[in-house]
Amino acid sequence: MADISIQLLGLRFRNPILTAAGPTSRDGMTLLNAAAGGVGGLVAKTVSTRPADVPRPNMAALKEGRVGSRSGILNAELWSELPLETWLEREYPIALSSGLPLIASIGYTPEDVSQIAPKLEKAGVKAIEFSTHYVGGHVEIAKALREVVEIPIIAKLSPKVDVAEVARALEPHVDAIAAINTFGPCLRIDIESGRPMLGSSDGYGWMSGSALKPIAIRCVADIAKTVKLPIIGVGGVMTGADVIEFFMAGASAVQVCTAAILEGHTVYGRIAGQVEEWLDIHDYASLRDIQGKALPHLRQGVSLDPPPTVDLERCTRCGLCEKSCVYGAITVKKSENLFAIDANKCEACGMCISVCPYFALGY
Ligand SMILES: Cc1cc2nc3c(=O)[nH]c(=O)nc-3n(C[C@H](O)[C@H](O)[C@H](O)COP(=O)(O)O)c2cc1C
Repeated sequence: MADISIQLLGLRFRNPILTAAGPTSRDGMTLLNAAAGGVGGLVAKTVSTRPADVPRPNMAALKEGRVGSRSGILNAELWSELPLETWLEREYPIALSSGLPLIASIGYTPEDVSQIAPKLEKAGVKAIEFSTHYVGGHVEIAKALREVVEIPIIAKLSPKVDVAEVARALEPHVDAIAAINTFGPCLRIDIESGRPMLGSSDGYGWMSGSALKPIAIRCVADIAKTVKLPIIGVGGVMTGADVIEFFMAGASAVQVCTAAILEGHTVYGRIAGQVEEWLDIHDYASLRDIQGKALPHLRQGVSLDPPPTVDLERCTRCGLCEKSCVYGAITVKKSENLFAIDANKCEACGMCISVCPYFALGY
């Protein structure tokens, strides 16, 4: 069995899946549920000097395709609606009772964090993640935190900044980077009423889930190429394969928010199990063996000579690749157990490789 435990910031996590700041980490009981659902570590909802005044409605699912399957969310949730005192007296102690490492999330100005952080450290949280989602000012906040606490500091970055440049500026002041926060602003309209689906003043919200993942993977890779800090990948983690992708881009752990909202608290254990299974099938002993595997290729590029290779044992003749081959190079006939690629027609676009659910095509 592969070892999926990780060491990060001097802490041991039983697996690399952490909660992310959001509604699925909104109080002590929610975090305890995540622990019961198999999560490796806890990151709590962002707290600040005053409770947030959250608009309603503040979440809308992003539906895809004919069956309306959901793989993303727009939100206008802001930070915690609970006062800091409630977190200190009740919510952090409940979360700490899980025995898992607990990371607090705080915002937003240097003055805010200087005031709050020592209280969090005293409450027993093991590290502090700071969010600059609405205000920027990364280095000033990191410096302010460093002056008041001893525990590790994690900077959580928005995809709206040049993450490599910000990470470089932050490197002397923080212990890790979390990337990324939600992307936006974005808009969804309820076509039955003609109104925006969210109750923020402009109707706008911030996107998370599957559509965010390629942005998050690029950000993690950009940061990994630039600094030596550990990186916590966040954005669109839904499956074990997503976790593997984040690690290959250079991540040391991941956080999960949207998948937990859509699926419930057992999502963490499911994803951790899939990570273990993938490592076992691919003969890797631990996540360290795949960390940063993609980075050398990002420096030198890759090239596909037509046609792609096919593993006929893995191919189920499902025909998905034939449907999305715009060059008409693939023929699949399930009844005849036939799979064929016409090398003269194949333009080496690579689409079939990415479409195959069975990883039967490659190069
Ligand atoms: C409803 C909702 C509320 C969130 N609240 C916070 C928050 O309080 N602080 C924060 O740093 N990020 C917050 N986030 C961002 C998530 O922590 C995470 O960075 C983002 O959703 C991408 O991960 P995902 O695709 O797994 O959801 C929130 C996300 C959602 C969907």
